[in-house]
Order: sequence, then structure tokens, then C-alpha cells
Amino acid sequence: MSVVIIRQDGKIDEWKFALASAAPQITFYSYLEDHPKDDIEIAMVWKHPTGIFKEYPSLKYVASFGAGVDFLLDDPEIPSHVKITRVVDPVLASDMSEFVIAALFSFMKNLTRYRTDQISKVWDPLPYKRIGDLTVGIMGMGALGSRLAADLCQIGFKVVGWSRSRKKLDAVECYTGEKQKSDFLSRSNVLVCLLPLTRETSGIIKTKLFKQLPQGAYVINVARGGHLVDQDLIDMIDHGHISGACLDVYHQEPLPEGHPFWNHPKVFMTPHVASVSDVRAVVPQLLDNYYRFKKGEPLLNEVSTLRGY
Ligand code: NAP
Ligand code: GLV
Repeated sequence: MSVVIIRQDGKIDEWKFALASAAPQITFYSYLEDHPKDDIEIAMVWKHPTGIFKEYPSLKYVASFGAGVDFLLDDPEIPSHVKITRVVDPVLASDMSEFVIAALFSFMKNLTRYRTDQISKVWDPLPYKRIGDLTVGIMGMGALGSRLAADLCQIGFKVVGWSRSRKKLDAVECYTGEKQKSDFLSRSNVLVCLLPLTRETSGIIKTKLFKQLPQGAYVINVARGGHLVDQDLIDMIDHGHISGACLDVYHQEPLPEGHPFWNHPKVFMTPHVASVSDVRAVVPQLLDNYYRFKKGEPLLNEVSTLRGY
């Protein structure tokens, strides 16, 4: 049973080499080389070209190379019987946690502002925030959000979390569902989005939500661009209710040249790098699922197409 690897970011050879080295008995094809498309049952995929799944009539299982599967569930060309899995990995979770903590301290200590000041040779000391001044609210308490919550608590932050189902985590006050959302938001001086992008969560970070955050709240979106209504964020920052944002993900990536985020002094941008699947860490779970699929066993980290994550 051979596998096709589909991704458009120049990393096919790296993944193919690592997979084939760990499992030389399996044939891995790049989608860019000649391969028997009619026979392919398994695809390993990250951000595929639109329409490509039409070329694989025998497809039965698609593994996402990342934690998110929104790009797969959005594709009507994937038949409903096809199983979809995603990456759940402690390295991905610790990378995400480190990134958010870096963004948080950068906000608290005005670091990006001082970099801009340095370029303009401006000397302008500002008041700064301490760990004890802030409560961090995490929307999405799954694999990534719960690891971040644990790390923040260990540093000494007050942490609140919000998810669909009830959670119990040491030292974290957990809120659940629509009913408790505004209580959760009213506590969050810094709001971190780690939700999956689904029908329910699309456009969730908008004016109504911003207004429920405390005055001067800071927003960190490391989930998906589709969670945020961009213009609402800009308006809320410009009106002074939100003090700024760190954004790693966008509606369109790369962000188009004319987008107002590029030049906004209170929006700190990174190019979707908060946590990137590590080849060595992730290959074993991709292979584990390959063998499970071959034996007809339940797959690890299978996504519910109904829930959307
Ligand atoms: P996950 O384990 O599936 O966790 C998702 C969390 O969101 C769960 O706690 C879930 O609640 C909650 N949730 C889902 N829908 C909700 C709703 N309607 N209302 C309230 N809570 C809801 O996902 P993950 O592995 O932590 O990853 C989260 C996302 O991060 C991914 O989907 C991806 O988009 C993004 N990501 C970004 C990067 C990057 O580099 N920027 C890297 C990796 C991942 P329950 O626990 O009750 O199910
Ligand atoms: C990255 O964005 C991922 O979903 O793994």
C-alpha cells in the first residue's frame, strides 16, 4: 500500500526521506512525480492544491501533517467516507507554548515598541506590566491550549480557559460553552486563540467579543486567520479598547501586500511560524497510523468531520 505526499511548501523531500528511512518497505511518492494515482489509498497532506483529490479515486485515508484540518474539511472533493487524522504531538505543543509566552512577555515589556523606537532613534521609557498584573484567557483548551495553560501557571500567571466541554486543570479556572463565554472574556487581560477553525468558531474574534474583554486587553491569535474579523480588530485598537495584537495566522497567507496589518504600529505579525510540525517527532505517529489503517484498526487522532475538528 503506497502513500502520496502532497504539500506545496518545498518540504516534500524532507518528509519523504524521513518517512522512507523509517519504513523502507513502504513506497512514498511525491504528488509531483509519476505515480499510480488510481491505486493510492493514503495521502499525507499539508495545504494541497485545490481539486487534487479528484485524481485519487481509491482514496480512503488522509493524514494532515499538522494539528489543523480546516483546509481538508473545507474541501468538497474529499468524499465523506475518507478518514482524516491530525497531528497531536508534545513537541508541537511545547513549541506553541514557547511562542505564546514570548509574545506575551514582548507585550508586557513593550519590546516591539522599543524596536520601532530604536529604528527612529526615539528614547521613550514606558510603564511595563508584571506577571501578577495579568490574567491570560485561552480560547481552546485542547492539546495546545492545555499545555500552554500548564506552562503559564508554572511561570505564575493567572490563567482562565474556555472550551466546548468541561475541563479540570490544576490552577486554571475553566469556562464552558456559549453561556460562560462572556464571564471568561471579562477576566482575560490577554486573550490567546487556540481554537480549531470550524463553522462555530469562524469569525469568533469580532467587535462583540472585543467589547467583552477588559479595557486595554491584548490579543494573540495563533490558531487560524479565519477566527478574526480583521477590520474589527483594527477599529478596536484605533479606538483604544484593545491595546494591540500579535498575529501569526491570516485569512490569506502570505498576507496580501496592501493589508492594513502590515503597517499598523500595534499589530505585531509573524508568518505562521508559532509551531511547525517537527519531522522527527511526527514521522512515528504517521507510520503508526499507516499500520493501523492497513490492519483495519482504529486510527489515532482521527478527526470528527461532524464536529469539524
Ligand atoms: P484541539 O486539541 O482539537 O483543541 C481544540 C480546543 O478548542 C478544544 O478544547 C475544544 O473543546 C475547543 N473548541 C472547539 N470548538 C469550540 C467551540 N465552538 N467553543 C468552545 N471551544 C471549542 O486542537 P489543538 O491541537 O489544540 O490545535 C488548535 C488549533 O491550533 C489547530 O486547529 C490549528 O488551527 C492551530 N495551530 C496553529 C499553529 C500555528 O503555527 N499557528 C500550529 C498548530 C496548530 P473540547 O476540548 O471541549 O473539544
Ligand atoms: C499549523 O498551523 C498546524 O495546524 O499544525
